[in-house]
Amino acid sequence: MIIDLKGKVAIVTGAGRGIGRHIAMTLAKEGVITIGTDIRAEQLEDLGQAFAAEQLPGAQFVCDVRDAKRIAEVVEEVRSRFGSIDILVNNAGVASGGIVEELKEEIWDANMDINLKGTFLMCQAVAPIMREQRSGRILNAASFAAIVPAYGSAAYASSKAAVKQFTRVLAGELGPYNVTVNCYSPGMIPTDMNHFAEQTEERQNRLLDTLTLRRWGNKEDIANLICFLASDLAGYITGTMIDISGGKFATQIPAFAYEAAARKESLRS
Ligand SMILES: NC(=O)c1ccc[n+]([C@@H]2O[C@H](COP(=O)([O-])OP(=O)(O)OC[C@H]3O[C@@H](n4cnc5c(N)ncnc54)[C@H](O)[C@@H]3O)[C@@H](O)[C@H]2O)c1
Repeated sequence: MIIDLKGKVAIVTGAGRGIGRHIAMTLAKEGVITIGTDIRAEQLEDLGQAFAAEQLPGAQFVCDVRDAKRIAEVVEEVRSRFGSIDILVNNAGVASGGIVEELKEEIWDANMDINLKGTFLMCQAVAPIMREQRSGRILNAASFAAIVPAYGSAAYASSKAAVKQFTRVLAGELGPYNVTVNCYSPGMIPTDMNHFAEQTEERQNRLLDTLTLRRWGNKEDIANLICFLASDLAGYITGTMIDISGGKFATQIPAFAYEAAARKESLRS
């Protein structure tokens, strides 16, 4: 079975760094004409150089996902230059927080505006094109926080939980047009957003102890899922949220399994 994405056209938001950059590079290496957008021009320039160095197909546009006018310009340019928009990955996001009693209104607004409204605005601009094409794949970054929120994550977790419901509503609206809409929930992928792998060893161990697979996620793990969900092979999946967290809290205390495995090993040796 082969995932064949060659010649498709994708937009990946927040492609300047982190998971989004990896998704953009991976799609382009699969032959997808990949348009990376981001609010940070210098990061996009760096992405452009990486594309040029590997002669990957695509383009980069500075675009704030909160700016409907700029989104319309970019989407129109992509359509007129490349002919279609087959894949939209709404990856751009922020994860600032604070406990509710101290949470600043601007932090609440930033999470809602970028994570939720940004996803809505991008979908609103791209959906008519996919509807006309009678095909398309929309993939929205939710988060494990949409399943089980973390301490102090009211703004972030609420925005990502809303992305999940938004995804289902849009899947329903676009179903008749053969456009699928799904979201995915990464668990813990070390990036500049969270610096997981730079915390003290003790804290890292406490975090890893929540995972059935007991390792950090890789950006590749997410990019691989995106490639599958964007492909024809995933044509019967819509309106769902895929948990890609290494089995975070799949059981109540995943660390027990590791303790049992260590006991078995020590009995054997
Ligand atoms: N890393 C994780 O463990 C994890 C876990 C769950 C969910 N996620 C989600 O995955 C996505 C990517 O996360 P990441 O860890 O790579 O984060 P990151 O901070 O490394 O990258 C986010 C990107 O989004 C861009 N961005 C921010 N605001 C923007 C705006 N207004 N318009 C356009 N672009 C904007 C940033 O410039 C950056 O390039 C986010 O939606 C995040 O919530 C990540």
